[in-house]
Amino acid sequence: MELTLVQGASTLEETETYQEDRPKLLVDGRVFVNARTFRRANEVDMSLKALLERTEPASVLDVEQKIFAALQADIAGNLGICYRRLKDFGPAVDQLKLALQHHEVRLRDCDKVDVADLRTLVAAHLNLASCHMECEAADAALQHAATAANMSGQVLTANREASGDVPAGPAENDFAMLAVSFHKVAEAHEALKEWGKAIFAHTQAREVVHRSLGPAHPLTQSLARCRPHLSRPSTGNRRLMTLSPVQEAIIQTEEKYGAHNYHPLPVVLSRGRGTKLWDVDGKEYFDFLSAYSAVNQGHCHPKIIGALQEQAQKLTLTSRAFHNDALGEYCKFATEFFGFERLLPMNTGVEAGETAIKLARRWGYDVKKIASGKARVVFANGNFWGRTIAAISTSDDPSSTGGFGPFVPGFTNVAYDDPGALEAELQAHGDEVCAFMVEPIQGEAGVVVPSDGYLRRVRELCDKHNVLLITDEVQTGLGRCGTLLACDHDGIRPDILVLGKALSGGVLPASAVLTSHEVMLTVRPGEHGSTYGGNPLACRVATAALTVLKDEALIENAAARGEQLRAGLRKLSEDEGSPIKLVRGRGLLNAIVIGGSDKGNYGDEGMAWQLCEEMAKNGLLAKPTHGTIIRLAPPLCITSAEIDESIAIIGRQNEFLDVYAASIGRSTGCPLLRPNKGQKVLPSIPQGARGKPFVRTTEALGFELVGYQMNATCFPSWPPTNASNEEQEWYAMARARRHEAPPLPKLAIKQEPVVDNFPVIPPPSRGALSRRSRRS
Ligand SMILES: Cc1ncc(COP(=O)(O)O)c(C=O)c1O
Repeated sequence: MELTLVQGASTLEETETYQEDRPKLLVDGRVFVNARTFRRANEVDMSLKALLERTEPASVLDVEQKIFAALQADIAGNLGICYRRLKDFGPAVDQLKLALQHHEVRLRDCDKVDVADLRTLVAAHLNLASCHMECEAADAALQHAATAANMSGQVLTANREASGDVPAGPAENDFAMLAVSFHKVAEAHEALKEWGKAIFAHTQAREVVHRSLGPAHPLTQSLARCRPHLSRPSTGNRRLMTLSPVQEAIIQTEEKYGAHNYHPLPVVLSRGRGTKLWDVDGKEYFDFLSAYSAVNQGHCHPKIIGALQEQAQKLTLTSRAFHNDALGEYCKFATEFFGFERLLPMNTGVEAGETAIKLARRWGYDVKKIASGKARVVFANGNFWGRTIAAISTSDDPSSTGGFGPFVPGFTNVAYDDPGALEAELQAHGDEVCAFMVEPIQGEAGVVVPSDGYLRRVRELCDKHNVLLITDEVQTGLGRCGTLLACDHDGIRPDILVLGKALSGGVLPASAVLTSHEVMLTVRPGEHGSTYGGNPLACRVATAALTVLKDEALIENAAARGEQLRAGLRKLSEDEGSPIKLVRGRGLLNAIVIGGSDKGNYGDEGMAWQLCEEMAKNGLLAKPTHGTIIRLAPPLCITSAEIDESIAIIGRQNEFLDVYAASIGRSTGCPLLRPNKGQKVLPSIPQGARGKPFVRTTEALGFELVGYQMNATCFPSWPPTNASNEEQEWYAMARARRHEAPPLPKLAIKQEPVVDNFPVIPPPSRGALSRRSRRS
C-alpha cells in the first residue's frame, strides 16, 4: 500500500501517537503494522518476521527488549525521513538519532553484527548525514558520513570473508553504499571549506564506483561530474576571515569614498598598545607588521605619547621661516645618537630618499665635479623607497611603474647582493656616478637578506670610485634588525643615512637625512625644504622615540627575539606538509616564504594572502609582500612568551592548509590528501603510477587507492623535477584534463540510491503542511 500525500501526513501523527504509547506497541503487533503505513504491508510482515529470526537474545526478556528496540528504531527512522522530506529538520534529526540509538540497543551484546545489520546502521548514519547537511550542520554530517564509510568498508570485508575472496559482482549495492558514503564525506568537507579533504573524498567515491560498478553505471557517471567548488586563491576573493557587519560597513564606506590604492587585509582596527591591536569589535591581535616597521617602540608608547601631548599644548608648527626651540636640540641629539655631523629633517621616508639623492647630485657637481647634468645615481634591483615619480623611476616592479611614465633620468640599476655588478657599473661609469643608494635588507621586495660582507664590499667600491654610499634604513634601521642600524651588521657607515618610519615611533610622520658637513652644506637656503619638516612636535616625538629605543634595550631585545622567532618558524617549516618553504630575516625583520619563488617576485600568484587571513582569524596580523612572502615584523618590545604564542598562531593553519592543498591539487590537476597534522600531504595518482602506496581505502575493495609520497619541499616545484618520465607524463595528462574539463556543476545525487530504501514520498500538500504548522 503506497501512501498518498494526505495519508502521509496523517500517518506521521498516527505514528507519533503510537511511539509515545510504547507498551501498547510492544504487545500489539497490529499497531506496529498500522504505524508503518509508508511501507508496503507485505514488506512489514516479512521484516517483522526477519527481525524476530535475526535476534538471538540470551533471555526471553532480552528478546522482547530487542524486538521492541527494533520496532522503535524502525518507527523513529520512518518518522525522521518523513520530517526530513517535510523539511522540518529539528524533529527529523531527533527521530533519526533515536532510530540510531534503538539500533545500537538492539545490537548491543551481539557477538557479531551481521552484514544486514551493518547495512541498516550505514543507512541510519547516511540518513543522519544527509539530514545534517540539509540543515547546514556540516560537522555533524561529516561525523555520520565518516562512520557510514567506515561501516560500508566493514560490510565489504564481511562479504569477502563470507565468500572467501573479493566478491565478483553481487556486492554492487555495497560498493555503491561505500561510494555514497565517501560522497557524503566530501560534501561535508566542502561545506566546511576543507577543500583538500573534499577533493580526496570525491576521488575516493569516484574510484570506488568506477572500479567496482564500471564507467557506464549511473552512479559512476554522476560522481564523475562532481568536484568541490574552489575559488581562485590568489585573487583573495574567498575570505577565510568573516567580518562583523560593523567592519563590513566601515570597509564599504572606505571602498566607496576612498582611493583604491591599497589592498588592506579585511580588518578594521581601532586601538593599539605595545605589541597588540584591537579591532572595532574588540578582538585582539598581535601586530606582526608594525605599520611597515614604523611602530618599533610599540603602539602608543606612553613616553612618546607624553612628549607629543606636552609639545602639542605648547607649539606644533612654525615652518622653517622661523626658528623653533626644539629643532636645534633635536639635531644635536640625533647626530650624536647616530654619529653623523648634520641632520636634515623631513616628514616621510620617500621625501628623505629624495633629499638624499638631491644632496648626492649636488655633491657630485660641487665636490666630485661631475659634468653638469650628467650625475647618475645607482640603485639595486628590487629596491623600494616610496611612490613618488623619482622613487618609481628606480623601480623594477611593474606594479609601481606601469602607466606612470615618463620617468626621471640619471638613474641606473644593478643586481642586488652582487658586488660584481656594482663594480662593473662603477668601472664603466664611475666618473659620472655620484651615489649608490641601497637598502641593507630589502624589506618590500620580501625581506631579501644579502650575503654577509656585501655592504663591506659595496663600501670599498664606493670609496674606490669616489661615490657616496646612501643607505636607506627607513625600514631596516632603528633597532629593527637587531642593531641600531642594519648596516652595523657589516660594520660599515654610509656617507648618507636615510631614516623614517620608527623615527617617531609610529606617532607622526618624521624622517631625516644624516650626513657630513661636506655633503650637507652643498645645499643652501631656499634650495630644499618642507613646511612640516623639522616641526617642533616631530622633533620632540623623535627625540622621545630614540630615547625609548635605547632606554628600553629594544635593539638587544630585537636581536634575541628575532633568533627565537626564526628558530620557532623553522621548526614549523619542518612539519610534514608545512607550506612554509623558507624562513629568513635578521632581528625582528623576518619573512616566511610560502612555496613559489623566494626571490621577491612581483606576481600576485601565491598563497600568502590566504595564510595572512588565517593568521588574522587566529589573532595575528601580518601582510604579504607579493604573492608568496609574508613579512613578520612585530614591535621590538615583544616578549619571549609573546613570540612563543605568535609562533603557535602561525602554526595553526588548518583551513589554510586545505586551501593550499586544493590549490596545488587544482594547479596540477592532481588531488591532494591532507590528513591530520603530522601526516603526509599526498596526491592520489592512478593505479599503475609509480609510488609507494599510502592508503588502502578498505582491504575489502580488492584494489588500492594508491598515493605517491611527497614531502613539503616538493611543493614549490611541483611536479618534482626529478620525477620519472612515467610520472611526468601522468602529470602532463592530469593538467591537460584539467584544462579540457568543462566547469563542474555541483553534484546532486538525487537520492541515496541504495541505502535509503524508503519509497519517495511526494512533497506535502498545502493542507498537510498547514495541519503541521497548526500543531506546532
Ligand atoms: C626602505 C624604504 N624606504 C623608503 C620608504 C618610503 O617611506 P614612506 O612611505 O614613509 O614615504 C619605505 C616604505 O616602505 C621603505 O621601506
